[in-house]
Amino acid sequence: MLNLQDEFHTSLRGLAEEVRDFYERYPYPRPIESLDKYRRLWKDSHRHRADYHLFWPAKTYREDQSILIAGCGTSQAAKHALRWPEAQVTGIDFSATSVRSTEKLKEKYKLNNLQVHQLPIEQVDDLGMSFDQIVCTGVLHHLPDPDAGLKALRDVLKPDGVMHLMVYAPYGRIGIYMLQEFARRVGVQANDKHIRELVVALKALPPGHPLEDLLRKAPDFQHEAALADALLHPQDRAYSVTQLFEFIEKAGLAFSRWVKQAPYNPHCGIMANLPQAPQIAQLSQVEQYAAVELFRGTMLRHSAILTRDDNPGGSQPVSFTSKAWTSYVPVRMSDTICVQERLPPGAAGVLINRTHTYTDLFMPIDSTEKSFFDAIDGGCTIGDIVKKINQNTTKKLSLDRVRGFFERLWLYDQVVFELKRKTDNDTDFSVVE
Ligand SMILES: C[S@@+](CC[C@H](N)C(=O)[O-])C[C@H]1O[C@@H](n2cnc3c(N)ncnc32)[C@H](O)[C@@H]1O
Repeated sequence: MLNLQDEFHTSLRGLAEEVRDFYERYPYPRPIESLDKYRRLWKDSHRHRADYHLFWPAKTYREDQSILIAGCGTSQAAKHALRWPEAQVTGIDFSATSVRSTEKLKEKYKLNNLQVHQLPIEQVDDLGMSFDQIVCTGVLHHLPDPDAGLKALRDVLKPDGVMHLMVYAPYGRIGIYMLQEFARRVGVQANDKHIRELVVALKALPPGHPLEDLLRKAPDFQHEAALADALLHPQDRAYSVTQLFEFIEKAGLAFSRWVKQAPYNPHCGIMANLPQAPQIAQLSQVEQYAAVELFRGTMLRHSAILTRDDNPGGSQPVSFTSKAWTSYVPVRMSDTICVQERLPPGAAGVLINRTHTYTDLFMPIDSTEKSFFDAIDGGCTIGDIVKKINQNTTKKLSLDRVRGFFERLWLYDQVVFELKRKTDNDTDFSVVE
């Protein structure tokens, strides 16, 4: 006779098999045959540097890291192998369809730096390897036991390694959960006929339905794999900010930063001007993020960068509270632009990160700030930039304003930093308004 614990494990195994069967039939993202566009995008060396220092501000740039793509789906591991040709990339996925699709791309693009294995995340330890970087996006919220999955990944992360984790967020997905419940109640199955009928039903969704906006904004939803992944998944849970932090801590990991931090920051965009801004500023960091998530209301997912909780370098190396910031090297993030037209009064430019989905996250800058911004070349420290500007202008900024400006550039996802150790040759600059 089975005891309760055996029964529990049997039901988890059953659920995991159901999820695997689902992905065998509806691989997601849709398998693709060409990575040419992706390859062109990553030809840009600045993109590589910005991506590297997003994850590792305190390390010197290198390209030969070991990367695990956990739950790699159809193309994610191949993309990483293509974008980091010097890296050793390992992709694992428990779906044979995903592995096959990745193998095809490996062959086509001669990705000798890629190994793919059909393996559940829960058994990643069987590889006998550890990694500098682990990427796990869109996967753990589908596991019957996400805690066990995250812990297994943590155990194969090197002590100074980093993890990119993406899980679903609840409030923006309310419409999805309503339609999942609708599909369950009326017996919609994950098969082609039922999915086609669901597409018809979705077209008739009344105006104002919580899913309406998402359907309009996500053209991907027209494809059956995407629709099945969102609405007919056998196992799907979401994490609010506070639940996410508990999830991370429980696994022995520490939060480093959001991949895009402006949407979560109470000092960015609409959040900065709320009457409640002073009260929000009094809260702990996690509570601030939680408040922003509730106020924004439409977040669909959380993408965070994590380290091990025993990481010797600490989890949040970027700081503007000590003077070290003058020796930071700002590196512009890809996908950022400086708009020069239809400017607000007094602005010499408006900085935008085109990957932000919230339209309030723009950063107007005046002419002095613009000269600082224009001097960012990915090689100079902030101190060097100040020195250079001070030589050419009589209008100088105070130390506080320079610090505030570069901190805002960072919070608004305009730059990442390479943290160079301060040397005796570093500029010890004085600035006066
Ligand atoms: C939504 S897809 C995401 C794919 C990829 N990470 C991306 O972001 O494009 C989820 C993938 O995780 C895989 N997966 C789900 N549970 C898994 C598990 N326990 N072990 C390994 N792979 C798993 C599925 O087979 C599927 O390919």
